[in-house]
Amino acid sequence: MCGIVGFVGHREAAEFLLSGLSKLEYRGYDSAGIAVFSDRIRTIKTKGRLADLRAKVEAEGGISGCLGIGHTRWATHGAPNDINSHPHSSMSGRITVVHNGIIENYLELRAELEAAGIRFTSDTDTEVVSQLFDFYYDDCGKDMVETLKKVLVRLRGSYALGILSTDYPDRLLAVRKDSPLIIGLGEGENYIASDIPAVLESTSDYYLLNDNEIAVLTAESITILDAQTYAPVTRDIYHVTWDISAAEKGGYDYFMMKEIHEQPEALRNCVGSRLTEEGIRLDDITFSEEQMKNLNRIHIIACGSAWHAGIVGKYVIEELARVPVEVDLASEFRYRNPILSPNDLCILISQSGETADTMAALREAKRQGIHTLAVVNAVGSSLARESDDVLYTMAGPEIAVATTKGYMTQLGVLYLIGLYFGAARGTLKPETAAKLSKDLYALPDQVRTLIEQDEVYQAIAAEHAAKEHAFVIGRGVDYAASMEGSLKMKEISYIHSEAYAAGELKHGTISLIEPGTLVIAVATQDTLYEKLLSNAKEVKARGAYVLAIVKEGCTSIEAVADKVIYIPTTDDLLAAALTVVPMQLIAYYIAIERGCDVDKPRNLAKSVTVE
Ligand code: G6P
Repeated sequence: MCGIVGFVGHREAAEFLLSGLSKLEYRGYDSAGIAVFSDRIRTIKTKGRLADLRAKVEAEGGISGCLGIGHTRWATHGAPNDINSHPHSSMSGRITVVHNGIIENYLELRAELEAAGIRFTSDTDTEVVSQLFDFYYDDCGKDMVETLKKVLVRLRGSYALGILSTDYPDRLLAVRKDSPLIIGLGEGENYIASDIPAVLESTSDYYLLNDNEIAVLTAESITILDAQTYAPVTRDIYHVTWDISAAEKGGYDYFMMKEIHEQPEALRNCVGSRLTEEGIRLDDITFSEEQMKNLNRIHIIACGSAWHAGIVGKYVIEELARVPVEVDLASEFRYRNPILSPNDLCILISQSGETADTMAALREAKRQGIHTLAVVNAVGSSLARESDDVLYTMAGPEIAVATTKGYMTQLGVLYLIGLYFGAARGTLKPETAAKLSKDLYALPDQVRTLIEQDEVYQAIAAEHAAKEHAFVIGRGVDYAASMEGSLKMKEISYIHSEAYAAGELKHGTISLIEPGTLVIAVATQDTLYEKLLSNAKEVKARGAYVLAIVKEGCTSIEAVADKVIYIPTTDDLLAAALTVVPMQLIAYYIAIERGCDVDKPRNLAKSVTVE
């Protein structure tokens, strides 16, 4: 996602900012900008690469000053263009900010400020921060900290912010909540950054900020204020010993692990701003309420993990919106002369938005005149551009070949579609919608608690790393999640793994169960739990090692399973977002045990642009 840097010191800020941003390029971006305090705050920003920004800065004769902020933007709200690039200033020009994250209530805030006569220039959620800051600024006696305190009360969502005011040529304010931001300690200068690589050339020492703590940086001092009392707090200094490449992975050994850990934030970004008090808000999709009511059938089309997300989507959308959903592999769909009717909708899912088969399926749907909706991560990708509507998954750039946060946020969007269509079609009771929305909002934190149980997955991996076969069984949504869990195992650890609908096992596959065969039994669906218990017993009786993944409280499985992983309680339809986490991590640790290159598995490519 976006990258932030900030500098206050006694040398030229621009050089530090540009070089710092270049170390954050791995986060992905489509535009960039810097703001430097000279006699006033000057901002230079542009769509495109950092080289474009550098050229623009040079063309404008440089930008001199010892205080500044910089940003690489990965578009979420509004197209990647010059105007939507950061930094963003208030209407008066007094306040300038850079932001990473998503302000979930930005539309409400924007409406409120516009009603008060404030004019906005961009489509971004970020601009409400600079405008709101300016709005409160005079009432707070032009005190930056006092103003920021008032602003924070109004913001909902995730943010890392760097803030400048024309009244303070010597200071930089920073705050974060659910988005990364570190404070770098220099000599006679200090820094902020989204990630350590951005400051590593200047310092190895940094502070971490907790949610909503405010940091005030000058060249000589860093003051961190408590999130509740705003009293100054003391902080331990962290010292990095990594090199740049390790630092880009945030200290993790592999991007995949980093991305697994980014899942709570990614899911929060994906669903947070779309779950509102008034119901689900789905960006600017043009598929009307009338069309939703008259829907004949939905076709979900995708490849790989995106296809697995689509299968979860089938269960969710059919249940909530009571419309038949077919799920197709893109490579099959395009050649099977699919029967589509005018009142159908095609949903194409893709992390990269460039997968050749998915693109071909999109074109086939369009050729037949069917409305197309893309669920895509990469902003401005081919799929996003060519579809009638697009819903971005907002996962941020994904580098590891095996997707994790990409899949997780695809689930997020599909849950939202189920709720949105269900409400429009009148098939979802308001109480059920409210309960599901609440459960959906709670998911990111539940994902985090599962990720934190690291040692459990490591121990399981150590025990099973030498196995050559594994099965993952489940029913309903659990079966859909099993497919993704099984694929992770195949992709990165090269264990032959198969996902099976648990009830189908006895029709053939059970003959493959031998003493010690690893069977992961996913059993989170309340109405199917007993059935799954019986299926687990069937494999156990044939000597399998049963690893069960169940909801908290389902302790009766302990009588059958060799090992049980409990997931937090959630609605049955949402369980895939939780059950997949242990499976991702077990696959990861098995791959490590087997000495595999986790980020670049053999024979695989991140983006498959050939048939
Ligand atoms: C490749 C990747 C998979 C991904 C699939 C679809 O095979 O290795 O992780 O699920 O492509 O990619 P897409 O970008 O369309 O989601």
